[in-house]
This record gives sequence, structure tokens and C-alpha cells, in this order.
Amino acid sequence: MTARVIDGKAFAAGVRAQVAAHVARLAEERSIVPGLAVVLVGEDPASQVYVRNKGIQTKEAGMASFEHKLPAETPEAELLTLIDRLNADPAVHGILVQLPLPGHMNAEKVINAISPAKDVDGFHILNVGLLGTGQKAMVPCTPLGCLMMLRDHHGSLAGLNAVVVGRSNIVGKPMAQLLLADSCTVTVAHSRTKDLAEVCRGADILVAAVGRPEMIRGDWVKPGATVIDVGINRVERDGKTRLVGDVDYAGAAAVAGAITPVPGGVGPMTIACLLANTLTACCRAHGLAEPEGLTA
Ligand code: GUN
Repeated sequence: MTARVIDGKAFAAGVRAQVAAHVARLAEERSIVPGLAVVLVGEDPASQVYVRNKGIQTKEAGMASFEHKLPAETPEAELLTLIDRLNADPAVHGILVQLPLPGHMNAEKVINAISPAKDVDGFHILNVGLLGTGQKAMVPCTPLGCLMMLRDHHGSLAGLNAVVVGRSNIVGKPMAQLLLADSCTVTVAHSRTKDLAEVCRGADILVAAVGRPEMIRGDWVKPGATVIDVGINRVERDGKTRLVGDVDYAGAAAVAGAITPVPGGVGPMTIACLLANTLTACCRAHGLAEPEGLTA
């Protein structure tokens, strides 16, 4: 079997188009413009690239983009004051503080200072609790993107065996909660799981989010399974730097029913879902119906 390749780039473009259409309607019918504030502390080069891309795509969707760049040595109290100001600003519907933060800052404290209703990353402890108890939450962007692609491919996920490899707060744990809420039978595995290969072989849906290049081998994949590869790893090969996922793509694609490539799979969905979350936060703030198909 050769797997269907799930084109995340095209899927993300579709999500962005849906968001943009909804944003245009909000502007025309209600004069409402959703706004996203992104805060970057320091000069981490990868973070600068992410923040720039977020700003570009936010504006392309017709939303307002507010960028706040602070020096690395900014005192934590100053960042907390900025967050308070953004929490109170009615033009700001979503707030994202780019991680990682400099070492002198307490990331948990900073994240939990964001108003939960504006927490478009879904990292605030209240949103974590709401998601875990099946209540309406802001949902982390990467797992939300994975869920959208899975629903699109399968329709209903009910009764499917899902194995999530990785237990991070940003991907693994919320992914497991979302799959459980869609009535999958969920196993959360990780680098210390005994006989990980055998656990993976039981998966109808296999989500790899461990951060280890090509760790999931082709013969760990059940024939016909759907493989979602969240990994983005830089490796040196033949003297060149290449991006690879957490899955051995060629091996897995030969047996899977569907698979996301790296790059061009899950990656583009993250910012698309950030825009979707900003729109959702805006609709909720104004007591309007949420955009269909763009929430968990
Ligand atoms: N840094 C890398 N990915 C992310 C993300 O999804 N959200 C935030 N806030 N920071 C990040």
C-alpha cells in the first residue's frame, strides 16, 4: 500500500481562506476586526522568523496584528504590565507570548497572566482544565491542526485506536484529550514506554510528537493506519541540513493509509489554527456564533 499524502500546506491555505472569509463578513456586517497581539522577548532567530510569519499571515487574513518586541533583559514585571494592558484592550482578541522566554522569566507565571479568553495558544491553566474536562476551551494550535486533518480524512474518529507518542504540554497531552473527546481509544506513549513498536502497531491513528528524528519506523505502523508526524528535526545528511519528522517517512508511507510529510504536513497548520483561534476568541468576546469547522 502506498499512503495518501495529507497535504498540510494546501489544508492550511484552506483554513486561512475560511478564516479570511469569516473575518471579511465580520468587518462588513458588524465593523468588527479581530486582533492578535504577539509578544517577543529577546532575539532568538527562530522565534523572530515565527513572529514575522505570524504577523504577515494575520494581516493577510484581514485581522489586526500588534507586535511587541522587548529586549531580552526586560524585567518580568514589565512583561506582566504589558500583558495586563493587552488583556484590557478591546481591539486585542488574542495574545501570544512567544516561547521560549529568557531564563530569568517564569513562563508559567507569564502564560497564566494572559486572560484565558484571549489565550490563543491554549496554554493557560484554565484552558488546560477546560479541555481536560470536555468543556469549551481555547485549544493549542498544533493539536487542533492535527485534529482538523484527521476529521477531514476519517469523518468520524469514534472507536478508532489512537496512539500519541509524546507527552508534552503543548502537543502530546492536548492531542490525547482532543482524540478522547472525539471518542477514540487513546494511548499516550513516550520514550520510556515498554515495547513502543508493539504499542504503535495497534494504532489506527498514530501521532508522533517525540522530537526524535525518524524514531518511528515503517514496521511500527499498522497497514492502512493514519500517521500524523508533528516532528520537525534538523539533521545533517550528505553534508546538507535537512528537515525530517519523528517518523521514517519512506518506510511508513509504504504501509500507512495516509501520512503527513515533513515539511509540508502539520507545520503549516499551526499558524493557520492560531488565526482560527483568534477568530474564535473574537466571536466569543462579542457573543457571536463561532466559526464552523475551525474549533474543536
Ligand atoms: N514557540 C514555538 N512554538 C510556539 C507556540 O506554538 N506558541 C508559543 N507561544 N511559542 C512557541
